[in-house]
Amino acid sequence: MGATGSILQLCNLTRRVGEGTPARAIVDDVSYSFDSGRLYSIIGPSGAGKSSLLRLLNRLDESTNGYVKFEGSDTREFSPCELRQRVGYLFQTPHLFDRTVRDNIVYAQPDLSESKINRLIQQVQLPSGIVDAPVDNLSVGERQRVALARLLATQPEVALLDEPTAALDPANTEAIERLIGSVVKDCGVTVIIVSHSPQQVVRLGGEAILMVEGKLIEHGDALQLVKNPGTPQGRRYMNGELQ
Ligand SMILES: Nc1ncnc2c1ncn2[C@@H]1O[C@H](COP(=O)(O)OP(=O)(O)O)[C@@H](O)[C@H]1O
Ligand SMILES: [Mg+2]
Repeated sequence: MGATGSILQLCNLTRRVGEGTPARAIVDDVSYSFDSGRLYSIIGPSGAGKSSLLRLLNRLDESTNGYVKFEGSDTREFSPCELRQRVGYLFQTPHLFDRTVRDNIVYAQPDLSESKINRLIQQVQLPSGIVDAPVDNLSVGERQRVALARLLATQPEVALLDEPTAALDPANTEAIERLIGSVVKDCGVTVIIVSHSPQQVVRLGGEAILMVEGKLIEHGDALQLVKNPGTPQGRRYMNGELQ
């Protein structure tokens, strides 16, 4: 982990849905290369195809044209199970099952040792005593941390995060943003996060990618892209003209 170089390559990636001829492209001919161990934010108006793009990266959905390579191999060559362990996914609202924190964390890694469970709980900044609590008793911010700990338990090389702070208050949002930063810096995980907020993208730093109507419009340094977009759509989005 943490090696430099391309980890995910998107080549003419397209997903068409619906009955039209041609069917509507919700992800439209996107080519891009994500480097290992870096942080990327995908930003754009609602309905731009950000979640749809993210879901193609670990085959939660399939492309209708183009492909994704993970570490040089077409993602269709991996078993979905292996791919989703190595390219993990965190949903907007925590998807946990109705058991304890421990049960959720060990779900994909039944052999996880007690010390690793405790380390994960520490890493996501939950109190150690919480491990045997039913997740039902937790706040949404705590539940999202449990979901993050479960994702980290499989030691993914890439973490795909779809608006992970959308349901959180500002304090929990800030805490999750710090955690995301440390996952990249300390664990060398490549993080690709969909964000609803240009301010968040600036706080996170790293690279930013702007999508509008299924297309990758521009990309670059996060602060630069938000403060000084290089395209008419970028300027319209940052001015609040594209929602
Ligand atoms: N399975 C699907 N079938 C048809 N349309 C879809 C499907 N999934 C997403 N869409 C549409 O594709 C567009 C992009 O959706 P989405 O990726 O969720 O956007 P974003 O995450 O940027 O808000 C939207 O217009 C949405 O309604
Ligand atoms: Mg979305």
